[in-house]
Parts: sequence; C-alpha cells; structure tokens
Amino acid sequence: PGDGYQAWLGYRRIPSADLREQYLPYNRIMIEEHAERDVIIQAAIAELTRGLERMLGQAPAVLSSREQSPCVALGIFGSSAVIDGAFQEGTSSRVREEGYVIRTDNLTGCIVIGAVSSVGILYGVFHLLRLLSTGAAVDGLDILENPVNPLRMVNQWDNIDGSIERGYAGKSIFYADNKITSDLERIRDYARLLASSGINAISINNVNVHKYETMLITPEYLPDVARVADIFRAYGIKLFLSVNYASPLEIGGLTTADPLEPAVRDWWRNAASDVYAAIPDFGGFLVKADSENRPGPFTYGRNHAEGANMLAEALEPYGGIVIWRCFVYNCKQDWRDRKTDRARAAYDHFMPLDGQFKENVILQVKNGPIDFQVREPVSPLIGAMPATNQVIEFQITQEYTGQQRHVCYLVPQWKEVLDFDTHIKGEGSTVKRIVDGSLHGNRYSGFAAVSNIGNDANWTGHLLAQANLYGYGRLAWNPELSSEQIAEEWIRMSFGREADLVDAILRLLMDSWGIYEAYTAPLGVGFMVSPNHHYGPDVEGYEYSMWGTYHFADWQGVGVDRTQATGTGYTTQYTGANFDIYESLDTCPDNLLLFFHHVPYTHVLHSGKTVIQHIYDAHFEGAERAAELTDRWAKLADRMDEGLYQQVAARLAEQAEHAKEWRDRINTYFYRRCGIADEQGREIY
Ligand code: GCU
Repeated sequence: PGDGYQAWLGYRRIPSADLREQYLPYNRIMIEEHAERDVIIQAAIAELTRGLERMLGQAPAVLSSREQSPCVALGIFGSSAVIDGAFQEGTSSRVREEGYVIRTDNLTGCIVIGAVSSVGILYGVFHLLRLLSTGAAVDGLDILENPVNPLRMVNQWDNIDGSIERGYAGKSIFYADNKITSDLERIRDYARLLASSGINAISINNVNVHKYETMLITPEYLPDVARVADIFRAYGIKLFLSVNYASPLEIGGLTTADPLEPAVRDWWRNAASDVYAAIPDFGGFLVKADSENRPGPFTYGRNHAEGANMLAEALEPYGGIVIWRCFVYNCKQDWRDRKTDRARAAYDHFMPLDGQFKENVILQVKNGPIDFQVREPVSPLIGAMPATNQVIEFQITQEYTGQQRHVCYLVPQWKEVLDFDTHIKGEGSTVKRIVDGSLHGNRYSGFAAVSNIGNDANWTGHLLAQANLYGYGRLAWNPELSSEQIAEEWIRMSFGREADLVDAILRLLMDSWGIYEAYTAPLGVGFMVSPNHHYGPDVEGYEYSMWGTYHFADWQGVGVDRTQATGTGYTTQYTGANFDIYESLDTCPDNLLLFFHHVPYTHVLHSGKTVIQHIYDAHFEGAERAAELTDRWAKLADRMDEGLYQQVAARLAEQAEHAKEWRDRINTYFYRRCGIADEQGREIY
C-alpha cells in the first residue's frame, strides 16, 4: 500500500506522551465470550486492536472478564452484565438497531460501548477510534448515537472488465478480466473505510449492466459474489446488485421481458431464489431502466410502477428491495425543439405514479434535475411523492466537478441540498426530512451515492477527494453535522492535529467548491464540458447534441427559460414559495439565474453586476484563487509526510493550469458572442 492507502484509518501514533498516557489505561478490550464468535464483533475487535496498537504502540489484551479494569468494554444490552450495569435504566430503549452508547464509567474506569446489535458495537468502536485519533478527551464520555437515515448506500459504477464508469482513481478493486477479483483484502479495507463512516449498503456493479454483468445473478457468478458479500457482512454492509431489465431475454432464453408476462415473472422469481440461496441476507436489485438507452418496461407499453413491482414481487419473500432510479429523460432530443426540457423529465415521468409502487420499492432520485452539475436547483421530484419511498442520489465521484484532478469538497453542496425547504408539507419540509423518512413516514428512505474510489494507492486519485467519501458517509449518518466539523475530523485523522495545519487544510477544502464553480459554467447554466468524458471546457460541446443540455447563448443573452410565463414551465414543479422565487427574475437567486431564465448579458444581478461582468470577474477570480491554492499548500510542505504532500501539490498545480484554460475559453466565448468589453480591461482573446 502506498501513500494515503490507510486513508482516515491510519491510526497514526499519538505524538504527545501526555495524551498517550491518558489513553494507555484503556489499552484492554473486554468482551463477553459468547459474543466473540459473531463476525461483526470480530471485525470490531480486530479494528479496535489495530487502532489501539498503532496509536499507543502496544497491542491491547482481549479479556473476557472485568478483572483487569480499566478497559474498553463492548457488549449487547441484555446479554452482558457489564454493559447493563454501566448505563442508567432505560438507556437501551433509546438505542436503535444500528445505534450505540459510549460512556466512561468512573466506578470501574472503563469506557463502555453498549448496543442492541453487533453492528451497533462496530459503529461504537469506530466512534471511539475517531475520538482517540483526533485527540479528544475520553474521561467523561456520555454519547448516544442513532443513524438518522436508515439506508446509507454507495453505488459502485464498476464494470467486470475492471474499468469504472466515471472512475478517476484507477481500475476497479472488485473486478479484473471479466471475473470477480481474488484479492479480497482490498475489498475488506474498503469495507472498513465505509463502515467507519457509517455506510450500510453497497451495490457492486455499474447501473449500466453490460453483457457479463448481467450474469452476476446466475449460479456461474454467485459463489464469487457471495464471497464479496461475506466481507461486507462483517462490516454491517448489505450487498446489492445492479440488474439488467432485459435479463429474461438476454440470458433467460425468453422472447420478452414484459413485466406482466407470467413467464417473465417466473424467471425473476427463480433468479431471486438463486441469489438468496447463495446470499441469504442479499439487499436487493438496483435498476436503471428506460434511461440512456437501457432496456425497461416502456418497450412493452408498461410504466415504471409495473416494471418495478414485478421485481419487487420476486424479492419480497426474502425481504429484498428494489431500488429504481428516476434518471429517465429523452436522450435523443432534437436541439431545435425548445419545448422539451430535460429538467422536467423525472418529475413528469414519476409523479403521476405516486402510490402505485409496492412497499419494497424505493425510487432513487438524483439531487438535481439534470446531472450532478456544480450548481443545480434541488430536484422537484424529491418529496413530491408522499406515498412512495425515496432515496436521494449524490455523486461522490467528481464527474462534473473536476474528476479528482481538481479539488472540490462536495459536503457543502450536499448540505445545501439537504437543507433546502421544499414547502411540500408547508414550511420546514426540508430535503433532509424527506430522505430520512420522517416527513412522509416512509418505510424505506435514505441516501445513495456514486463512489469515487478505484485501485489507486490512495483510493481516490486526489488525496483530498477522500474527504468526499468520508463526508458522504458521515452526512448520511447525521445530516446535521456541519461541513467544517466533518472536514476537520477527516483532516485530524489523516494529517494530524496541530491547529494551524488543520485550519489551513480546512480552509482549503471549504473554499474549493466555490473556486471550482467560479471558473466553470456560470450562474447555474451547467454543461459547458467536453462531450463524452466531461473533463474540461467546451462551451458548445453539447449545444447541438441530443442530450437536452443547452445554454442557448446568442449575441444578446444566455440561459434557459424554464418559467411558466414564457418558458418550459419547469418552475411549476416546485411548491408554493419556491415556484414564485424561481419564476420571477426579481427573486431568482443569482447562482441559479441562467438555470431558470434567459437574460441579456446586460441584465443586472442582485449583486449589482451585469451578467457579462459577473462572468468575467468570476472567471478571473476563480482562476486566480485556484493558483493561490498551490501557494497555500506549499506552506504545508514540512508539515506532513512527503508523499502525501507531493501528490496533492502535483494535482493543485495541474488544477491551476487547467483553471486558466477554463477561464480563457469561457471568457473568450462570451466576449466574442456579445462584444462587450471587460470593465477592467483584462486580457480576453
Ligand atoms: C451520467 C453519466 C453516465 C451515467 C449516468 C447515470 O449521465 O455521465 O455515465 O451512466 O449519469 O447516472 O446513469
């Protein structure tokens, strides 16, 4: 493993002798004997052992009785006298399935971690390790944690040939040469990283399910899939597979995949039975159907509810679920057609089906209506189907946010989405209350996100992109955590705890999204990227394509008119005040102006600048601030491991160069279109 491989689980030796002294008494692990056989508890003990040994320089003893206090005692309420005795009566009733309590018991001098399930113990252990590795005091702990969101999932977009769709950190850690890898250690380390941040579900293959991946649900591949599931199980993570809707046709020998056809239903029932025979606690299927040329129920004149329910029926006897993606739009649009609006598509397709999906179906909705741009409004479909389970989908992998060559800490973006008030049930109907299931009382709910890891030594290509993976998990666990708090935890665990070092990296991360936004597509308009790979500027790269992502810049103005009054009417998908805010030029926020309105370059923003001057200023400033990042990082040269320092320095240098390319392409394009000069007379080509 190279620099950065341990990510935030490096458990660096505690530099201060004082602090080591304080922690050392706890270098003993106490667990009831009968619990030791549980695979999750074994994983928890192994992790705690590793962490304590690395941080304190001595391996802890594992004891099964409390003779040698103090210690760290782990156990499940009701089956451990030590745990029951350490907490006040009634405590266990406040701890939910995956939750835990941690308390420093002054009587015995033990840190006691209690839970109602083994996975709660695992999460409690990771919490304690986080406290120790960030240098927290542990003499008065009194913690109760329950995850806010039930489903906390990552989606791998890995293909069985080892490639990763939108992957920017090397090849897959799961597959090579059309086989599931036999190097399960790396998968185990990934499971540790995920569990430590609170993730409890994973789909291990791309939502675009190609030829060989279609067979992952067959007896040929299932034994290998089961081995991967075994690893994740030990870390409380359920395994899911993406499935091909046309499987009955492509591998089942049938002539149709019509969801209402009895033979098709039987085929899926048998498939589910094979899967559960191999993996009894299998999570379920993730489905991209009738989306970007993938097969689906539309071929047979059926709707998405009919399509999803058929799979849901097959999984139901085993407690499995169907996660059905809502990324459905016309990807063969004629650019001349100004009426069709891709932003409307998910809502138009799915909203009318509210109440028609089975109980074990969840709709997975991207955070924005287009596609993970640096700035988009919140998808109006989120929360708009009160009788339907929904999870929100984020993109940790930085497809449109710098592809892990640019630094872009995404937690602040996700928090803006989560804090958005949809007004769907009146004031306070925030996205976070919809996706945690509380607003509509859904049976299933939570978070999903596209992972950003590959087999690069540091997992994420850009070392600082590790913060996005970590931050996603922490936010899914508790969306009330602040972006700063999450970043700070990650920095302390990854780089150390000296205040000025932590502060410098924290500020860099916190500035990064704004900087990236400033030098890329302006004012929410999105998609000025090179076609296909989506890296780097190409202002008209998608302007005359079939993908429905246009900015309509001409000599007078720019932006997409999505108003009810004169445009596509997309604004009507928002509730109450949100409709009014977006519909009117007077109230539409500057940063989304061009998403909702087509305006002249001379239109004056709330900031007091004209649109064109804003474009110039933002791009000059953005590129300048990107260049400053390299200087800011250079100041940290002697403050960390050389390898860590160098890899980030190299990426930041590349970003600074590339930001200039963005700046000049965008500024030049608009200057040539409108002929309006920069007020400050800076160089535009
Ligand atoms: C984006 C991305 C695709 C991906 C798709 C999806 O369009 O570019 O690679 O398949 O999203 O979410 O399904």
